Amino acid sequence: MLSEKMLNILNEQIAKEVYASHLYMAMASWAEGRGLEGISEWFYAQSEEEREHMMKFIRYVNERGGHAVVPPVEQPPKEFPGIREAFDASLEHEQMVTGAINDIVALALEEKDFATHHWIQWFVEEQMEEEASVQGIIDKLELLGKHGLYVFDRDIMSMRGEE
Ligand code: FEO
Repeated sequence: MLSEKMLNILNEQIAKEVYASHLYMAMASWAEGRGLEGISEWFYAQSEEEREHMMKFIRYVNERGGHAVVPPVEQPPKEFPGIREAFDASLEHEQMVTGAINDIVALALEEKDFATHHWIQWFVEEQMEEEASVQGIIDKLELLGKHGLYVFDRDIMSMRGEE
């Protein structure tokens, strides 16, 4: 059985994951509107992944006897100043999520909730991968500059690691 504190923090995480899914969907739609198919596909795929994260939390909470609450979703930005800025915002968002996952790990240890501690390790690893993946894209963008954008857009989907 989950403590009330744990139930609350896990429900808050459901809201964060669903917002992440919306944020990436907004980025995908924005990029698609600008003819950047590859970048748009990358963000759509990322959005799907975030939805899967949300589902994992919902199912875990319910499995442990809690009630997973489906939250309202805040509207993400419609416009982004540029591609680089969208990826910078993605990295910032992932770092925020990593912090939130770490808070769950810390609470699990504090409460000696070893089941949650064990279960959440998948997300600890996932966040390391997500941050590294977005950082890798930012590094490439840095190298490419504007003229390489066409090639970058074509190749971005092959930069997704095995999941
Ligand atoms: Fe579900 Fe990218 O954090």
